[in-house]
Amino acid sequence: MRLVNHLIQSSIKRHFVFLAMGAGCSSTSSAVTSSNSLQATSTAIATAPARMYSTDKPAFSVEVCKESEIGDGSPGMKQVKFGEFPVLVGRTADADRRLFAIGGKCPHFGLPLAGGQIAGQRLRCPFHGACFNLVSGDIEESPGMDCLPTFKVSVRASDQMVLVEGTPPADGKFVVQRPLAGYQPEFASEHFVIVGGGPAAAAAADSLRQEGYRGKLTVLSADSVPPFDRTKLSKSMASEPVLLRTAEHYAQHDIELMLESRVESVDPAQRTVEFHSKNGRVVLPYTKLLVCSGSSARQL
Ligand SMILES: Cc1cc2nc3c(=O)[nH]c(=O)nc-3n(C[C@H](O)[C@H](O)[C@H](O)COP(=O)(O)OP(=O)(O)OC[C@H]3O[C@@H](n4cnc5c(N)ncnc54)[C@H](O)[C@@H]3O)c2cc1C
Ligand code: FES
Repeated sequence: MRLVNHLIQSSIKRHFVFLAMGAGCSSTSSAVTSSNSLQATSTAIATAPARMYSTDKPAFSVEVCKESEIGDGSPGMKQVKFGEFPVLVGRTADADRRLFAIGGKCPHFGLPLAGGQIAGQRLRCPFHGACFNLVSGDIEESPGMDCLPTFKVSVRASDQMVLVEGTPPADGKFVVQRPLAGYQPEFASEHFVIVGGGPAAAAAADSLRQEGYRGKLTVLSADSVPPFDRTKLSKSMASEPVLLRTAEHYAQHDIELMLESRVESVDPAQRTVEFHSKNGRVVLPYTKLLVCSGSSARQL
């Protein structure tokens, strides 16, 4: 389940204040909302746009093995190739035991997912722990922002052979970016404010637009640069881009990114958030608020 669905479902259950894990596994995000604002925001959510990836005219069709040779979970996984493009084929490790075929390189650093661990319907990357849904390809835990391509998998009735067919992404990057909706003036009364400028904030903003949210969307970050991938600070060469999304990406999808804007207080009764920016003190009204300001280690 994607982050925003999780937030909305959680808020339905708890009505006012809830806690949710952000995209960063180690930090806690909290959101303040009300049942009224939930309903209002729900009206601003259109049907999610279809995935960009399609298997209508597959470029590759590969025989994998007999169905009986595919075991459950990670040990039963097989790898085939669509040209140079690795594809993992296996069964989910849940009651469904569903066959899946999914891109075999992690969108985070492009490293192989073949050694990853399957739990239920999710595959965890062996390198930095990103988690993907095996059926939809969606990224469900960071690091990283992008999804995996999924491919059609079937069993041939005559000989129980597992077949995988599909077309890898044209750019060869093993990455699927779900399309994002944009702001529409008819939803101007909806204002979703996100406090924080880390991976959780970036993932929440993208997820809202990906799920079709068309109201106003503002990210208030104390940082002076757009959200970046902290993991790359310790794991990759300096020449690699570290921003999770470019400044243009936020502008293009009507995500107002306000940098050097440190939130000082939230008034849930008035539904306002107060922050300090280069322009001084600002009080901003919201209809929904997500707080994902990270956490810091306690000094001993
Ligand atoms: C060097 C390094 C390597 C890492 N490697 C890995 C790894 O390999 N795998 C892994 O899973 N995790 C890794 N992590 C951890 C991962 O980066 C964190 O789990 C993740 O950054 C948490 O994201 P977050 O958005 O919840 O919080 P944060 O990244 O802490 O972001 C919080 C944001 O909120 C902003 N903020 C705080 N207070 C306010 C306020 N009052 N008003 C406005 N904005 C505010 C901050 O400026 C910041 O932008 C690593 C971290 C570091 C630093
Ligand atoms: S390469 Fe998969 S999480 Fe980094």
